[in-house]
Amino acid sequence: MKLNIAVLPGDGIGPEVTAQAVKVLKAIAMEFNHVFTFDYGVVGASAIEKTGVALPQETIALCEKADAILFGAIGNAVYDMDPMAKIRPEQGLLGLRKTFDLYADVRPVIAYEDILDKSSLKKKQIKDTDILIYRELTSGIYFGEKTFSDDGNTATDTCQYTRFQIERIAHLAFIAAQKRKRKLTLVDKANVLASSKLWRKVIQEMAPQYPDVAVSYMYIDKAAMELAINPRQFDVILTENMFGDILSELAGVIVGSIGLLASASFSDKKAMFQPIHGAYNKASNQGIANPIAAILSAAMLLDHFELYDEASLVKEGVDKSLKLHITTPDLNTKYEHITTIKVGDFIEDFINNPDETNLN
Ligand code: IPM
Repeated sequence: MKLNIAVLPGDGIGPEVTAQAVKVLKAIAMEFNHVFTFDYGVVGASAIEKTGVALPQETIALCEKADAILFGAIGNAVYDMDPMAKIRPEQGLLGLRKTFDLYADVRPVIAYEDILDKSSLKKKQIKDTDILIYRELTSGIYFGEKTFSDDGNTATDTCQYTRFQIERIAHLAFIAAQKRKRKLTLVDKANVLASSKLWRKVIQEMAPQYPDVAVSYMYIDKAAMELAINPRQFDVILTENMFGDILSELAGVIVGSIGLLASASFSDKKAMFQPIHGAYNKASNQGIANPIAAILSAAMLLDHFELYDEASLVKEGVDKSLKLHITTPDLNTKYEHITTIKVGDFIEDFINNPDETNLN
């Protein structure tokens, strides 16, 4: 298969982890006789430094002609100190989501057997956790009207959803649930928010189309608690933009490190793949950034193009690296100095030679 991939490494640890994902994709291309080409673009704080904006036209054009987008991370604390700044790194990511209508964000949360002890939750609570979060990504409070009063003392964010926006992601979440444990939980705040009431009504109306899926409804506050107490109860979680952001970060605690969580965001025509973690600028260029989330995002890319054997091989490589403790310091207590690159190299070697790869 021929694939042109737009690579947007972004800020902080983004370039380091993305380099490992690209390395893994190149190994897959070699092993399975595919032709993957990679075109690089700037986004986020690094784009602001170079061009003055977080999402330059050239980057949009690059993504337009690509089959898929591989994204690294975004953000820089410098901008966090100026809350009123007109230009911010995050505009790069939000702009991509909006430009390409990437409305369905899929975030798998899997507790790996070999590293259950890395979680701050108890092993017996998290064992066998396997959740798929469907987060709506192009609407809600993130993209609603925002105002500041002239005197600077009042600010408004609007959370708006339409039936269309809810239905299109909900169909995907129901279909995903049908292929899994056939359970879907809508997370909302329908006891308070009008937008949540609409979500709940629409899902109730859609549920009869998917009689094989057991639908439950949970308020966001309760869902946060339940995720931390008994994450195993969830199969597919469907939720709006901001609740999905918060819950998926919490999910990083369940699995032991946010550096393990991959994601894919889809429109009907375009797909973008990215680790859910941020730029973690303090850790950049030290070799300590965990590349697994970026590598698993590359595996999601392969799955998206129905390269299932290829994706499985990448995931097996990740499993083996975790089993042998070939991991960065966020997870490792066994070996010192396993760097970002070393983890990428190990998974690359595994792809080249699955039966013989060990730590050397
Ligand atoms: C994420 C991030 C982004 C979000 C930020 C960087 C804008 O936290 O992808 O989860 O809030 O969506």
